[in-house]
Formats: sequence, C-alpha cells, structure tokens
Amino acid sequence: MSRIEPVDVDLSTMVGSVRLRAPIMTASGTSGHGAELGAFGDLASLGAVTVKSLLPVPWAGNAPLRVHQSPSGMINSVGLQGPGIRTWRSQDLPALLSSGADVVVSIWGRSVDEYAQGAALVADLPAQVVAVEVNISCPNTEKGNELFAHSVDATQAVMAATASANRPRWAKLSPNAGPLLVDVAQAAMGGGAEALTIANTFFGLSVDPLTRRPRLGNGSGGVSGPAIHPLAVRAVAEVRAALPTAPIVAAGGARTAEDVVEFALVGASAVQVGTASFADPRTCFRMIADTTNWCAKQGVRRFADLIGAADLSPVAVHA
Ligand SMILES: Cc1cc2nc3c(=O)[nH]c(=O)nc-3n(C[C@H](O)[C@H](O)[C@H](O)COP(=O)(O)O)c2cc1C
Repeated sequence: MSRIEPVDVDLSTMVGSVRLRAPIMTASGTSGHGAELGAFGDLASLGAVTVKSLLPVPWAGNAPLRVHQSPSGMINSVGLQGPGIRTWRSQDLPALLSSGADVVVSIWGRSVDEYAQGAALVADLPAQVVAVEVNISCPNTEKGNELFAHSVDATQAVMAATASANRPRWAKLSPNAGPLLVDVAQAAMGGGAEALTIANTFFGLSVDPLTRRPRLGNGSGGVSGPAIHPLAVRAVAEVRAALPTAPIVAAGGARTAEDVVEFALVGASAVQVGTASFADPRTCFRMIADTTNWCAKQGVRRFADLIGAADLSPVAVHA
C-alpha cells in the first residue's frame, strides 16, 4: 500500500451528472431550511446541504411532542412543517447561496399534482441548487394515505410529474417498502429519477409506560440514527445488486468515516448525515476530515474507487 498524504486524497464524487466536492451532505429535515448549520462549519466544504422537504404552500406539521430519543437514535414525527417553497426562496435560500454551499432542495406533496407544482416552483432556481430530492416517503392523500414510495405506480407518476424541475431529480425512498423496495426503485428510475436516496426513517412507535400513551403527538413516528445503520446498509446493497447502474445516495445512521466508507463499499456514491447532527452539529464537517484521513491511511487516493467495491459474495441481501 502506497503512503498517501491527506492533501492527496480526492473526496469528490459523482451522483449521476452531479459532481459533489465531498461525499458527505446533510440529510433533509435535520439541519433546517437554510444556512442554520453554517454556525458550526463551512457549508461550502460539504458535498451539499439538503434542505428540509418543502410543500408548495406553508405547512404546520404535527402536534408536539415531535421528537424523542430512542436507543442509539431517535424517533420523530415532525410532520414536514415548512414555510412553503415561495417563502423559502425569499427568506432561507439567499443565505444558503451566499455561504457557497451546493444545495439540494427537497420537495414533497400530498398528491401527484402538488409534486408537479413544487417542481415548477423550483425550476428557475440558480445552478447552485444542484438537484431536487423528491421525497416520496410521505402519504398520498388521494389514495387513502398510502405512502407514494410504497406503490410502484404512484412512484412512477410522481417522478414523471416532477420532470419540469429542470435539474437532476433524486427519489427519496422509504425503507418500509419491504419486498417492493427494488420495484419502487426501478419505477423511480423509469419515471426519470437520476439517482435514489436510500432511505428515509423506519416506522416506529414509542409508548410512555406511565401515561400508557404514545410519546409522540402524532402517535407513531420514524426511527433514525445508528440503530438503523445496518438496516440502511442492507437496503442500499439490495438496490445496488438489482440496479447496478443507478446512482445511490445513502442515509441511515451515518456518524463516522467508517460508516461513510461502508455505505460507499455497498454502492453509495454519497452519504447523508441526519441524526448525528442533532448529537453534535459539527458532525458533518468532522466526517469530511475523518474520511480524508481514513482514505490517506488506507492508501485510497480517490474516494470514488470505493463505490461498490465490497465483495458481498456469497451473501444474499435478502437473508
Ligand atoms: C427530525 C427529523 C426530520 C426529518 N425530516 C425529513 C424531511 O423533511 N424530509 C425527508 O426526506 N427526510 C426527513 N428526515 C429523514 C432524514 O433525512 C434521513 O433520511 C433519516 O433520518 C435517516 O438518516 P439518519 O439516521 O442519519 O438521521 C428527517 C429525520 C429526522 C430525524
């Protein structure tokens, strides 16, 4: 193994047609709508800042309590509270653009039509908004609250309806799709996604033994953090095995350089960090330095060479 200095390591990575300067970015919903995380580090050093999912109109979100710490992670039901895309553009985006960060804007809708409206509202954003993450892991109100990402047809329809976004689209999948995950991933790519974000939170429930009531105001919620990391790694590996050419952005419990490398080895081109930023908002920035040092120490000159390099034979990802 040749000795490599950290300064010689190339951390840049391609997610489809989008070149990121580093493979580590924020996960939607975990660092605000704008430049909030900039108080803790240089946002321009990140692969990108992914903003909280936005509806075309303002949305109040769910009743409190919205977050609760769980073993090795957290459970949340924030309910996608947000200012709406127009207000976000005028109030939050300018500071984010001034920070020099590349931005991924996440959109959601309650119907296919709302996704189409959202896509149209982001179509003329500057090129610094490098991609649109289409969060399909939320309920389709026209179909009795079934998650879009749990239906092949709804996934295909949403991705087709967001084509007017005028930039690469990443479909954010639900890890609760079970045996449908690969079919949904395929439908997303067929509908025009350029990449897949794998994945959102896992369905969970936390009940207070004293009140005998759910701890979260909404009842159930989504589990995130280190507790879900191996589950997310498996989901990435499963999709990669079935769709080897689909670019993947991984999310699920990443908090160390080793987690980033693990996700890359099973096929992720980049990694989003969410819950770890709640524990320490400097985490993303530290992970970039740590991943650089890890690569140098291991003689890896180009991070991109790690992508899909795990030898998983003869492991069956369904096991
Ligand atoms: C408090 C909270 C809010 C979230 N809000 C969103 C959101 O608005 N849109 C979205 O696509 N994912 C949202 N997520 C999911 C994260 O982006 C990420 O997919 C998930 O938490 C797994 O990554 P992690 O374990 O690193 O947090 C949220 C997660 C948390 C913990």
